[in-house]
This record gives sequence, C-alpha cells and structure tokens, in this order.
Amino acid sequence: MRIDVVTIFPEFFDVLDISLLGKARQSGLLDVSAHNLREYTHDRHRTVDDTPYGGGAGMVMKPEPWGEAIDELLGDATPERADASAPLVIFPSPAGEVFTQKMARELAHREHLIFGCGRYEGIDQRVFDHVATRAEVRLVSIGDYVLNGGEVAVMAMIEAIGRLIPGVVGNPESLVEESHEDGLLEYPSYTKPAEWRGLEVPPILLSGNHKAIDAWRREQQLERTRRVRPDLLRAETPEKAETAEA
Ligand code: ADE
Repeated sequence: MRIDVVTIFPEFFDVLDISLLGKARQSGLLDVSAHNLREYTHDRHRTVDDTPYGGGAGMVMKPEPWGEAIDELLGDATPERADASAPLVIFPSPAGEVFTQKMARELAHREHLIFGCGRYEGIDQRVFDHVATRAEVRLVSIGDYVLNGGEVAVMAMIEAIGRLIPGVVGNPESLVEESHEDGLLEYPSYTKPAEWRGLEVPPILLSGNHKAIDAWRREQQLERTRRVRPDLLRAETPEKAETAEA
C-alpha cells in the first residue's frame, strides 16, 4: 500500500520507522512518504495560511499550496477510476465521519491513500470541493474532541490500517480476537504466574476445557461491553439488540 501525507510537520511521521510498521516499510508492504506543504508555496515566507473571509478567530490554510501538492500526488487520477487502485484522499477533521475498525478494514484494501493534515482553523473549503472533482474524498474524525492539527489523527489511522495489511502482523489470528473486531470489547487476558500479589488467574483458564474457556471469554466480552460501551450493542443487528437487553 502506498500512503502519502501532506503536512507542515513531516518530521511527525519519522516515528513510523519503528516497531511493526517500520518493519512493514522496510519489507515494502507499506510505502509511506510525508510531504512538506511549504514546498508547494512560492513566497519568501513559505506562507500556508491567511485570515478568514467573513472574519473570525484564527487562520485558514490557503488553497494554492494544497492544490499543487494534491495535484502532484494524484498524478493522472480521474474520478472515473473507482476501483481499489484509485487514490482516496482523506482529510482528518473533527467535522468528519468517525473512524472505526470497520473503516480501517475497508481502507486496508486500498492501494493508495493520501492524507491532508490541516492546522489552524482548517483548510479553505474549495480545496475539498476541487479535489472531489478528481478523486474520492473523505473527511474523517478520530473522535469527538479537538486536536491542534490532523497529524496525530493520521498517525492513529495509519497504525490502525497498516496493521491490517496482510503480512504486517506476524500472527493474523491475533487480529481476530481483539476489541471491535467482532463488535465487542475484548475479554481480559492473563499470563504466568498463576498467582501474583495475592491475585489469582480465573481458575477456568487453567482448566484446559476449551469450550468452557470460550464461553467464559464470550461472557466477559458481553459484560464488559454492556458496562463500558453499551452504545456498541445497540441494534445494528437483531442479535445484538437481544444481547444488549439480556
Ligand atoms: N483534527 C483536529 N481534531 C481532529 C479529530 N478529532 N479527528 C481528526 N482530525 C482532527
């Protein structure tokens, strides 16, 4: 998968050299490049923002550098090419649709993602409108809170998407039993020693009875989800509605 990030802080993305994603980059499974938006300015001060039309607090990112940067990354892409190989342009924004595990799974199938990190009060609206004439565009939020810019949100999305690319996580089974993969929070995990500081591992996990262990884990998932995130159980499917009421 190819990922391009446009940002005024390309150094933010240096940390992608470490851990599992670093290995994925070295092995060629993931090709991430961060591009400095200021490289697409033409004035002495490399200006990327200006005051908002209509007044108001803060600064707005100017359309020209964004237009040039995204034009270069889109190359000859046209909106007619609507398969997985077509580039998808994502702008992180608290005003976007909420990023979920389901979206991460969908995006892990794409061949080329372009992320545009806004700062200040946001990017001139015409950038989104114009890019949408050339490619699929999505505004995506990582949660109902406001960050200073899109960089941290993009890091989170790259990690969530990158680990779903086949080959990035060594044991693909470990991806299946995680929070959100089946719509529930994950069950609690334990390792040796069997007793630590007076706290014991639940005896069922030492029983060797795998059917009973599976049932216990499922019950733990449901109990935890009902208690901490009842919203996850609310009625996407009739089965879920039943579990929520149980
Ligand atoms: N930029 C600022 N806040 C954000 C958020 N919550 N999600 C995505 N991008 C953002």
